[in-house]
Amino acid sequence: MDEANLASIARSLIADGRGILAADESTGTITKRFDGIGVESTEENRRSYRELLFTTPGLGEFVSGAILYDETIRQAATDGTPIPALLAKQDIHPGIKVDTGAKPLAGSAEETVTEGLDGLRERVAEYHGLGARFAKWRAVIKIGDRIPTPYCIEANAHALARYARLCQDGGLVPIVEPEVLMDGDHDIDRCDAVTTETLHVVFAALHRQGVSLEGMLLKPNMVISGKDCSRQADVDEVAERTVRCLRRTVPAAVPGIVFLSGGQSEQVATAHLNAMNAKFGGQPWALSFSYGRALQDGALKSWKGSADNTQAAQTSLATRAKLNSAAAKGAYTGEAA
Ligand code: 13P
Repeated sequence: MDEANLASIARSLIADGRGILAADESTGTITKRFDGIGVESTEENRRSYRELLFTTPGLGEFVSGAILYDETIRQAATDGTPIPALLAKQDIHPGIKVDTGAKPLAGSAEETVTEGLDGLRERVAEYHGLGARFAKWRAVIKIGDRIPTPYCIEANAHALARYARLCQDGGLVPIVEPEVLMDGDHDIDRCDAVTTETLHVVFAALHRQGVSLEGMLLKPNMVISGKDCSRQADVDEVAERTVRCLRRTVPAAVPGIVFLSGGQSEQVATAHLNAMNAKFGGQPWALSFSYGRALQDGALKSWKGSADNTQAAQTSLATRAKLNSAAAKGAYTGEAA
């Protein structure tokens, strides 16, 4: 493992208030997003949509990395430039989703474990050859009546650590993503307790498997009320409790924490990140973004599958990227509703 190189890539991903564009939707997920705007999910439509995102003028000023799906990292822009090279031209590191999805966890009716370890060493080598410099693996922890079970958290943490170690051995910076879902009517206390437990177990597994903390990034959920909870915690409470939870669980050696948006609206996701940095700045790690929906929602709606709307869609993405980068510095001042 080349620890110095990994640490240097990890630091560059969170330097200067930049963050990450998650554009690694699997074919199933992007098809759902395209259904929402009435666009057929063909390989060509997926390619041209991703080309639109990655050729957004000035994107590299606010975005340091873009996470790709297996199909996308093998595609090229209209002029023949391979997608990883297209990103590199904007000073954006290409990243790759390497898990194969959350599958039913044997012995637990409602829970999942994320798969994708088989053949991972070889896939990491191939992706590195295609230009990838970092990777992502998402574990899913669901809150419900008697879940999550310790078994589910352990199984997912073990897989995350195996993934992270394999990536580091192959020269990719792993983004470790244990997502506690916001689906459900649980309150913020329950999200806090489950997130705290999950992060403790994940960092114990990372330690046991010899993962270099300096050469990784953490991608967690925020500590937030369940979507259907009758009491919705406000922006300041989410910021305070998220930072407190992370201070108790994430070692200072980790260079950066890049949040997922998880179903928050674009504006709320930006406001939460900003409040953390504006009110609780000076933490041992940078606090930035690795948003999917909270960066792309407006762009998708503007695009609607037509090349005529390219500029409007790119303007939407560039605006969100700029606002989130301001939030990563605690300098977001809001926007017209
Ligand atoms: P969202 O920001 O839409 O949650 O997506 C981020 C991501 O990469 C989830 O794995």
